[in-house]
Amino acid sequence: MDSIVVKGGRRLSGTVATSGAKNAALPILFATLLADGEHRLDNVPELRDIDSTEQLLNALGCTTHRSGKQMTVNVSRPDEALAPYDLVRKMRASILCLGPLLSRYGEARVSLPGGCAIGSRPIDLHVDTMQRLGADISIEEGYVVARAERLQGTRILFEKLTVGGTENALMAAVLARGATQIENAAKEPEVVDLVHYLRAMGARIEGEGSSVITVEGVDRLEPARHSIVADRIEAGTLLLAGAITGGAVRVERCEPQHLVALSDKLRECGFPVESGEDWIAVAEVDAWSSTDVTTAPHPGFPTDLQAQFMALMTQAEGTSVITEGIFENRFMHVQELVRLGADISPMALVAVVRGGKGCLSGAEVMATDLRASACLILAGLVAKGTTKVNRIYHLDRGYEQLEKKLAALGADIERVRG
Ligand code: EPZ
Repeated sequence: MDSIVVKGGRRLSGTVATSGAKNAALPILFATLLADGEHRLDNVPELRDIDSTEQLLNALGCTTHRSGKQMTVNVSRPDEALAPYDLVRKMRASILCLGPLLSRYGEARVSLPGGCAIGSRPIDLHVDTMQRLGADISIEEGYVVARAERLQGTRILFEKLTVGGTENALMAAVLARGATQIENAAKEPEVVDLVHYLRAMGARIEGEGSSVITVEGVDRLEPARHSIVADRIEAGTLLLAGAITGGAVRVERCEPQHLVALSDKLRECGFPVESGEDWIAVAEVDAWSSTDVTTAPHPGFPTDLQAQFMALMTQAEGTSVITEGIFENRFMHVQELVRLGADISPMALVAVVRGGKGCLSGAEVMATDLRASACLILAGLVAKGTTKVNRIYHLDRGYEQLEKKLAALGADIERVRG
C-alpha cells in the first residue's frame, strides 16, 4: 500500500488548477444508463472512484473508453440490471444506479452498500423515494430488488436533506409518467451539474439549486455531451494547503461562488482571499486567529472540508469549536492529528481545537477515509520534520495526483510505493 511522505516547513506559493468534480462525475456517469448510444463527457477526473464506476457500467453492458480527461460511454441494454456486491462494496455511490436502472428498464437489483468509516450511511431515503414513485421494492439476500412497469410521477418531500437521494429521485423521475415535485431537495453544485446533463439528454427539469425541483417525465432521452463542473472540494483543499503554510496560492479552473462558506471562514481568521470568474486565491500571512465552524448542506460549510479546516485550526491563535452537522462519525482524523501533537478534544459531534502555531511534529499516521487523508497531508505540510501518511489508497479515490499538485506549489512531498 502506498504512503505519502511530507517534510514540513515549506511555505507554498504559485498557481494550481482544479480537476473535474468526483461527486458530479459519479451521478452523471450513472445517468448515462438512461439513454442508449454514445455519451461523451469531458473534464472527467482520473480517480479510483471513477475506475470503480467504469467497472460497474461495464458490468451493466456499457462500453467505456478513456482518453485523458475525456470519457465516452456507449450504453446498451444489459443482460441483467444487476449491480453486484463485489463492485458496490468498493464504492457506496454505486447506489446511484438504482434510479436510472429502474427508470429505464423497470427493474434493478442493487447490492446494499454497507457502511463506511464516516458513518452508517443508510439508503432508506433512496428506497422510500422509489416506492413513492410506484416501485415494488424488497430486500433479498443483501440486495435491493426493485420492479416497476413504469414509474409514476408524484410529490416527494425529503424529511432529511440528502444529496444522493435527490440525485436518485431525479434520475428516476425523468422517464416517469407525469410530473414529480422534489421538496427539500439538495442544492449542492454537483446536483445542479447532474441536472445540466439530464437536460442536455432531453429531460424537462426546473428549479435545480433551490429546495424545490420539478420534473416533467418524458418517454425517451438521448445521449449527449457534457463537461464536468470543477471540484469545489479539491479547490477548497488546495486553498487550505496554501493557507496552512501561510503561503500565497491561486487555485484556477474553479467556481469561487461554490466556495463562499470557506472564503468567509478564511477571512474571519484573517486570511486575505481574492477571487475572479474562475479562480480563487489566498495571500501570505504569518499568523491567523481561530473561528468556529458547523458543517451544513450547501451553501453551508461543506462537511467534505471539515477535516482539512480542522488541520488549519491546529495552527490558529485561539480555540476553535468544530461541529459536524452531517455525518455521525466524521472525526476519525482527530486521533491522528493528536498523534502529530494537536490539542483536540472530540465529543460526539463536536471537536474543540486549541490552536498553537508550530504545535505539530512529524510522525507516522494512518488515513481512515478520503478527506481525512487530505487533512493529514495538510498537517504534514507544517509539522516539524517528516510525516508519513499510510493507507493512501483512500486519497486516490477522490484526489487526482494531489502530491504532484502540492509539489508544484513547493511542498517537499513524495509518494512512496508500499
Ligand atoms: C454525498 O454523499 C457525497 N458523495 C459525500 O461526499 C458528501 O459528504 C455528502 O453528499 C454530503 O454532502 C457523493 O456525492 C458521491 P447524503 P451522500 O445522502 O449522498 C443520511 C466525499 O468525501 N442519509 O447527503 O451519501 C446520511 O447518513 C463524500 O466526497 C440517510 O439517513 O450523502 C448522512 O448523515 C463523503 N438516509 C446525511 O443523510 C439515506 O437514505 C447526508 O447524506 C441517505 C442519507
